[in-house]
Amino acid sequence: MYIGSIDQGTTSSRFIIFDKKGDIIAMGQKEHEQIYPQAGWVEHNPEEIWKNTQEVIGLALGKANLSAKDIAAVGITNQRETTVAWNKKTGKPYYNAIVWQDTRVGSELAELAKDGGMDRFRGKTGLPLAAYFSGLKLRWLLNNCEGLREDAEKGEALFGTMDTFIAWHLTGGIEGGLHITDVTNASRTQLMNLETCQWDQEILDIFKIPKAMLPQIVSSSKVYGTAKGVLNDVPLAGMLGDQQAALVGQTCFDPGQGKNTYGTGCFLLMNTGTKPIPSKFGLLTTVAYQLGDEPVHYALEGSVAITGALVQWLRDNLGIIKSSPDIEKLAKEVEDNGGCYFVPAFSGLYAPYWKSDARGVLVGLTRYINKSHIARAALEATAFQTWEVLEAMEKDAGIPINSLRVDGGMVVNQLLMQFQSDIIGQEVICPKIIETTALGAAYAAGLAVGYWANLEDLRKNWAIAGTWKPKMEMSKKEKLQSQWKKAVTKSFDWEE
Ligand code: G3P
Repeated sequence: MYIGSIDQGTTSSRFIIFDKKGDIIAMGQKEHEQIYPQAGWVEHNPEEIWKNTQEVIGLALGKANLSAKDIAAVGITNQRETTVAWNKKTGKPYYNAIVWQDTRVGSELAELAKDGGMDRFRGKTGLPLAAYFSGLKLRWLLNNCEGLREDAEKGEALFGTMDTFIAWHLTGGIEGGLHITDVTNASRTQLMNLETCQWDQEILDIFKIPKAMLPQIVSSSKVYGTAKGVLNDVPLAGMLGDQQAALVGQTCFDPGQGKNTYGTGCFLLMNTGTKPIPSKFGLLTTVAYQLGDEPVHYALEGSVAITGALVQWLRDNLGIIKSSPDIEKLAKEVEDNGGCYFVPAFSGLYAPYWKSDARGVLVGLTRYINKSHIARAALEATAFQTWEVLEAMEKDAGIPINSLRVDGGMVVNQLLMQFQSDIIGQEVICPKIIETTALGAAYAAGLAVGYWANLEDLRKNWAIAGTWKPKMEMSKKEKLQSQWKKAVTKSFDWEE
């Protein structure tokens, strides 16, 4: 028997089948369209995503010559915060899914901050006011989609992040699909109270969100129900936001353990145990996971919106590379960045700045700069942003971090990983299985059905595949760090 994991990410949906050792048996993957109706807006078509999800499940099963009967349980992991509302009777979405990177509600923040400042909900939710989280995206949908508010009040319209949307469809859709979200995804809505792990009525009232449209908040690892259709009768037993799933996939179960995932953005999470730790240095306090009925574990998170997405932007919008992996070859043609810095504040700046009105800047340009310098500056931007988050993490947690566990698509980039180690002055460690996101959801599902007995079983699967040690001279490192900080300030206050 095997465990299946649906990984509904920002750019693609995948289904990965794992065995007991955490090794990949087969994978199906399909990209979906990125819709940019105007500057700052990012949308997905949720119906396309559900269609792709079913296709990739069939694809992976077919490749491995397996059927639903061979799958002991399925887990879901997902791009977090992306917000969708759909009709319970027809299954039709009221609007496209508003993607986490979308900044359309940025202009509403100042008004909301008048009463209590940008941190007015931090105490309850662990999150600052920002365009990033689902609550304000849902408020936008309620205010802009005809009929949605009335249907929501009658309990006929449902809200969900992508975990919820997939789980509802997977378990029957209009014929009684489950309307649930796990505690990690709920913690990204800014509508959930971190202590009680329930929807917070006071915030719902301020945002004018009808409670009847919200899903039930459940544990991250538990048999919720069974799938219909392509995975007929397979227990749906795990759900986690993708960054939390990567934390579980990296087996960071002890307080102080953390990981950084290099995907569209970069997300550094550190397990802080069973008490939420408030951040003073621009990080988020969030739920790490809940396994069965055990106490909820919390994490501090440093979120960076644009890292891998900058490489895609150089490919798609500037055309200076043909495919994403080409960036490394191009960047290696030069010794250094030539004094050029790229701050990719395309969706504003997330941690530790939280500036929705920041916009991207490329600074330090001279006639000497060529496309290789720009490629290099783009890769370095990922490492610099991670360094700033790590600095905040050390201050918030009050402990030095001696090494960084990494995963995600960009870790195959040797130049980036070496520069990352140089700029943080710490060892960077990559595990054998870099598909930690999908693995984490598989672990959650597998634990719930007894496929894996306990956390020790999972820890045994973790092994090191690569390490990078810092080599850069201190003076060079410090110069790069201070120039980066200066470049960041140039991105502030751009959007009127
Ligand atoms: O918070 C957004 C994050 O969950 C997106 O992750 O891997 O889909 O870029 P990813």
